[in-house]
Amino acid sequence: MKVAIGADHGGVKIKEEIKALMDEHGIQYEDFGCDCHTSVDYPDYAIPVAEKVASGEFDRGILVCGTGIGMSIAANKVKGIRCALVHDTFSAKATRQHNDSNILAMGERVIGPGLAREIAKTWLETEYEGGRHARRIEKITTYEK
Ligand code: RB5
Repeated sequence: MKVAIGADHGGVKIKEEIKALMDEHGIQYEDFGCDCHTSVDYPDYAIPVAEKVASGEFDRGILVCGTGIGMSIAANKVKGIRCALVHDTFSAKATRQHNDSNILAMGERVIGPGLAREIAKTWLETEYEGGRHARRIEKITTYEK
């Protein structure tokens, strides 16, 4: 699995935590920035990461900002992206099983690095269930066209 990861200035610490998690588990990733603590604009990171996932160059994406909200709004504008804003492990598992979410968004001003790591681990490990959920995703895909 290849993961594209990005953050704005509000999400750099959690981005580093998730990179460490992926290093430990031998998951391949590319960091699309930022590494700064000065103010940047989240769409400048969300959209390139989302485009990499939508194009198939990367299998999944992880985006972090202060709340995760801006990142998820911007990523979901890219056709083919199902970005889930998640701050608990139940939703991390459910959004993979039911929504086949291909980008995970989190907010560093909402949760700490320990929980973010657990959420990302659950989300990365959980498979999509297909079945009745496929029909629902198909309706979204049809609408996008
Ligand atoms: C930046 O101040 C903040 O607005 C951003 O990180 C994010 O929370 C936006 O949704």
